Amino acid sequence: MSKVQDVEGNVDATINLFFEKLRERFSSTGEVCEMSDWINFFAWDVMSQLTFSQNLGILDAGSDYKGFLGRSAQTLDYFAPICQIPILDMFFDKNPIMRIGPPTFVWANIFSVEQLQKRYQEANPTGHADFLSKFLEAKKKNPDLIDDNTVILYLLSNVLAGSDSTASTICAAIYHVLKNPAVHKRLCDELRGANLSMPAQWKEIQGLKYLEAVMREAMRLNPGVGLILERVVPKGGFQLPDGRFVPEGTVVGMNPWVINRCDVFGADTDSFVPERWLQRPGEADDAYHARFTKMKATDFTFGAGSRACLGQYLSQLESYKLIATLFRTFDMELPRQEHEWQLTNKWFIRQKDIPVRLVERV
Ligand code: HEM
Repeated sequence: MSKVQDVEGNVDATINLFFEKLRERFSSTGEVCEMSDWINFFAWDVMSQLTFSQNLGILDAGSDYKGFLGRSAQTLDYFAPICQIPILDMFFDKNPIMRIGPPTFVWANIFSVEQLQKRYQEANPTGHADFLSKFLEAKKKNPDLIDDNTVILYLLSNVLAGSDSTASTICAAIYHVLKNPAVHKRLCDELRGANLSMPAQWKEIQGLKYLEAVMREAMRLNPGVGLILERVVPKGGFQLPDGRFVPEGTVVGMNPWVINRCDVFGADTDSFVPERWLQRPGEADDAYHARFTKMKATDFTFGAGSRACLGQYLSQLESYKLIATLFRTFDMELPRQEHEWQLTNKWFIRQKDIPVRLVERV
């Protein structure tokens, strides 16, 4: 996390742009904001800003004007079933006669190549640290290991792995907080009493216990990746604790949506209860510490082991800062109390699900 804070300036630049758009289009006009769309615009622009010090222009346009988000969503919709039934990929995407696949990520490749060429021609204009400059430093230090193609792969990993997943987390937090008035009040009380800067700085929000509980609970209930995280059983096989034997070479896996609802997290794990992450009245410090540590270690949102998510701290920096700044700055409500939420928290929050009315606090 200390390394990730080097890039906080680029997150702040995009939060400022996002708030400018929220004011211009929604809080000053009284229009209802389709928050899930705007959070997606934010998440894609911020990831690009962090990577290249150049956003994708989506917040400025106020729409998916280049079709990047739509194409990425179509590709992810393809991945979801195909990852569970891989043989189908042979008939669709890898069909040798006629490819019947989703859009490719070639647009992201082209964008990354353009940004790399631009950086060779002119220095980073913002002066903020970005991933591209770090990758080029790594290339300089390890020329045998890293060439321009590797740098482009790193850039692609950032943009493709870090945008939708972070948007999903932020949407989940907003959705659950607005659906739970007691949580909403407690979160706003904490944030508004904390004298935060605009945008909220990481060092200011680090100690905010209720914010942390809300974010951990949003990720527990709505982990950004809903697929089985696969591993291959190594040589010699593996003995399960219940005595069953899994032979070497078997593909095994666990799904964060299942693991995150196990009883380590206490009762009623289908419900959004940030308080489960806090010390209970009368609970001894040691007991709380042990319970918290076990929940944290079991939480499977970012996977586990040597292939666990490389972007988890970056994503936390973005999402914690944005939620803190949003709930500190605006009174937010659903436009109609009787509004029918189309999906319960057992399902992914999908686009078009979080219409919000925003009123800026003076
Ligand atoms: C809330 C947001 C995010 C979620 C829920 C998430 C989740 C995950 C998960 C579940 C994995 C696979 C872990 C495993 O198999 O054990 C993964 C891998 C990865 N993630 Fe994330 N991620 C998020 C944000 C990001 C961001 C912001 C970046 C980049 C800046 C990123 C980069 C990566 C990379 C590069 C890998 C592959 C790591 C490897 O195979 O060694 N992720 N992520």
